[in-house]
Amino acid sequence: MPVPKFLQSQRELNAVPKRDFVLSFFNMEVHALTKPLQWDQEEGAILLLDQRKLPRELDYWRCRTIGELALAIRQMAIRGAPSLALAGAFGMALAAWENRSQPITAAKKAIEDAKSVLQCSRPTAVNLRWAIDRVWRKITNASTPDELIQKALEEARAIEEEIQLVHRQLAGYGVSLVPDGAQIYHHCHTGALAGGGFGTALGIILQAFQSGKKLHVFVGETRPLLQGARLTAWELARAGIPHTVVVDSASGSLMRSGHIHLCFVGADRIAANGDTANKIGTYTLAVLARYHDIPFYVAAPTSTIDLASPGGEAIPVEERPAEEVTSLVSYRWVPEESRVANPAFDVTPADLITAIITECGVLRPPYTSSIRQALAKREN
Ligand code: MRU
Repeated sequence: MPVPKFLQSQRELNAVPKRDFVLSFFNMEVHALTKPLQWDQEEGAILLLDQRKLPRELDYWRCRTIGELALAIRQMAIRGAPSLALAGAFGMALAAWENRSQPITAAKKAIEDAKSVLQCSRPTAVNLRWAIDRVWRKITNASTPDELIQKALEEARAIEEEIQLVHRQLAGYGVSLVPDGAQIYHHCHTGALAGGGFGTALGIILQAFQSGKKLHVFVGETRPLLQGARLTAWELARAGIPHTVVVDSASGSLMRSGHIHLCFVGADRIAANGDTANKIGTYTLAVLARYHDIPFYVAAPTSTIDLASPGGEAIPVEERPAEEVTSLVSYRWVPEESRVANPAFDVTPADLITAIITECGVLRPPYTSSIRQALAKREN
């Protein structure tokens, strides 16, 4: 069966003109190439663009069961907080589809079980839980299995559309913070593949570039899984934005030598007081930025804010397999007897963050009040 809407070969991918890539963002179309997930209505399956293999290989993972989807999430075939929200939302539709021949009560129970499996698949990005809960609330009063599927899909599609809009609004606010000629340090990956559409921090950078500002982006490679070197650099290259990939440990000396004017990162969870969990290394970068008096900006939709976490200490930090640190593919360079730690995220205290850019505006300290005001604005 042909793969719907996605590109089908590496050749097609390479053939997409850079200009089309940038325009696709601004026309609000999700470019086939950066669409991280798609629902296959014919088969009742989720098709993921396998981010582990990019940019080397263009491949898709068709998830037909919740077990398979949870595995794909754990293995990071799909990753990045807003894309995880999409995986969770369409995952609920998948659970409804899988249980379509069950009596309604049994189908709801099975979806509730699937909800727990998906929620645990990656614990730090709160967007995953946010989207799953949102779909669950919409479907609980369905009275037939078909209605369960239909309502779950409707809500998942609403979330998908909202993400596009929200990221575009966020970029609109963030662009004013980027001066012409800016040299920006960016950590991890916050673009279309992670953002489920337009991207967050990288969306701001794209918009600034599109508006005619001259920019240079220093791309932290982001050990151990190299989201910066593989995904951010790939999206920047496709968009024709000048950039340089550096090892993570180069950030300090780059700041000291005056090469960095501002830092942009995304977020996986923002506590009520503004403490921010993001890819491991973000905290180090924030400390360095403060020492060198460089603005440090976090860009994230308000769905990344978790009022149930009063401060950073309440945010669970995912510990990932040691093999991600010890080896590359099957070649291990770390001695067998060495102990390895692999926390996937760290928490940056709110007082190191210059501003948090959301779809409700640019939030400034004290975050306890600016966050509440932003959420109130969203509710209106
Ligand atoms: O482990 P990952 O790759 O899912 O971590 C992703 C990040 O930390 C991103 O910076 C964050 O989710 C923002 S995505 C717009």
